[in-house]
Amino acid sequence: MCGIVGYVGKKDNCVRVLIDGLEKLEYRGYDSAGIAYFNGEKINIVKESGKLENLKNIVNFNDQSQIGIGHTRWATHGGAKKQNSHPHKIGKFTIVHNGIIENYANLKNDLIKKGYTFNSDTDTEVACALIDYLYENDKNIANVIKKANEIMIGSYAIGILCDDEPNNLYVIKNKSPLIIGVSEDEKFIASDVPAILDKTDNYISLDDGDYGVITKDNIKLYNSGKEKEFKIQKFEFDADLMDKKGYPHYMLKEIHEQPDVFKKTVNPYINNDFDGLMKKMPDFTKYSKVRIVACGSATHAALVGKQMLEEYGNVKTDVETASEFRYSKPFLNKDELVIVISQSGETADTLEALKLAKDNKNDTLGIINAKGSSIARCSNMVLYTEAGKEIAVATTKAYSAQVAMLSLIALNLSCKKNLISKEEMMDILKSVRNLPNQMQELLDKNDEYEQIAKKLAEHNDIFFIGRKVDYALAQEGSLKLKEISYTHSEAYAAGELKHGTISLIESGTPVIAIVTDDFIAPKTISNMIEVKSRGADVLYITNRNNDEDDKLYDNRIIIPRTHKLFQPLLTIIPLQKIAYEVAKIKGCNIDKPKNLAKSVTVE
Ligand code: G6P
Repeated sequence: MCGIVGYVGKKDNCVRVLIDGLEKLEYRGYDSAGIAYFNGEKINIVKESGKLENLKNIVNFNDQSQIGIGHTRWATHGGAKKQNSHPHKIGKFTIVHNGIIENYANLKNDLIKKGYTFNSDTDTEVACALIDYLYENDKNIANVIKKANEIMIGSYAIGILCDDEPNNLYVIKNKSPLIIGVSEDEKFIASDVPAILDKTDNYISLDDGDYGVITKDNIKLYNSGKEKEFKIQKFEFDADLMDKKGYPHYMLKEIHEQPDVFKKTVNPYINNDFDGLMKKMPDFTKYSKVRIVACGSATHAALVGKQMLEEYGNVKTDVETASEFRYSKPFLNKDELVIVISQSGETADTLEALKLAKDNKNDTLGIINAKGSSIARCSNMVLYTEAGKEIAVATTKAYSAQVAMLSLIALNLSCKKNLISKEEMMDILKSVRNLPNQMQELLDKNDEYEQIAKKLAEHNDIFFIGRKVDYALAQEGSLKLKEISYTHSEAYAAGELKHGTISLIESGTPVIAIVTDDFIAPKTISNMIEVKSRGADVLYITNRNNDEDDKLYDNRIIIPRTHKLFQPLLTIIPLQKIAYEVAKIKGCNIDKPKNLAKSVTVE
């Protein structure tokens, strides 16, 4: 993923601007960081492995500079070592890069034959050498970049400095995000707008294939050899969202924002009536099937959505992981709707899956959180979730907003197909009104979560079980725990356990059983009995309050009942909070777990 930032302007504080920008981009990777800036004499490079803090300790903030580039790395080619950190310099060129140059190995061999030597294992250094080599024969850097663009295969957003033109910042963008920030006396480049928001909210969004040159007074952009016009857009951003509001971590703050996010996402569609639901959504009744494609937690939201769309919308729904789907024969029916779900709207695999569906001439709907993002722009139809900016790498509020949106689509279908009674609709209105308070009630059960987390933190392997929607929630609960507390855990369809995994259950093995669906509850409860009788320590998360269940568990968390369409939004809260508490006990870096990144723009 990596984050890149760049500055060219009339002020001398380039070093500070680069470091500030990288701070905001650390969510994209934090294996190493580096900057390069022209100090009036030469391009100075400072880089260090590990968190940005390490770089900050060695950078000279008093160095005056008006142009530079910076990078925070999520390692792809080559380990998280200083020698692999960006910027890389070869010959006259210094570059930072986000993405993957897929044909780097062939290019590297050719360049070695031409006399180039490499100090790192990165594909970036190869791109740098290629540009330097092309420059030998053509001193017009814009032409050189155009040629490099034609030769390189893969995804890349690159910021380039050249010793011969130290006042010009060159850029290329292909399949990795890049924007140019614009103010009167200063220009910026960044992987996303918030990185430069404290400097300007005017920006230009680059398209694939764009390249160009930026000076303090001017921007020239090209695509396929032709100069192109560009539009300066205004970013609307609530700076308040960057504030932790007294919470020790963004993740906890975001978990606690869920009642508000629910209201913001659902109210435009369901308020005192269902007018919005009927008028503001496209007509989905014409599709005979739905395919949902996404990555990570968005796939888990899709799995919840599948249950809702099938039960309430009466439409066959399949869920596929984008990284698999994009390389499969899609087998899409002509009248099949393809839904892609993405918080960032920039996930490379999801974007490519979307393009595959579009190439197949299927209608596509994006359920997206980031307005104007690549996936939003590429989808035929878009429904925005209203989770606001999510900063913690492990998603919580964006996930629940995705689940809420899928439930709304299922309900829309149910209404349009006349599958739902007036009484049930009234019940839904009541549920929607009560849900934020019920969420709050669950969010406040801190002592319960802490007690349970203390027990779980002592174990290395934890199992989650559930059926149907509860299985989908189990998968997200398990992922949360893995992501932020580095505890191995697995989610199983409760009925599948007996086909193998039950052999791993022994005295004291923690099993988290999720039981919220009355229809299937007795079956999951039988599976709880099976693990309990083999010694498992069972945490029972349920909306049932039956005395007869008493002996089946060691600990229980009762969650409030609501309409089935919205029940998952309550069930997920204890799972998120428990993962958070376990990670806290284990002293993990909760907002920035190791090896992960928030926005995955490489495949
Ligand atoms: C990364 C994040 C996950 C997220 C996934 C998909 O792996 O760490 O939290 O679920 O990407 O991201 P998207 O932005 O497409 O929802």
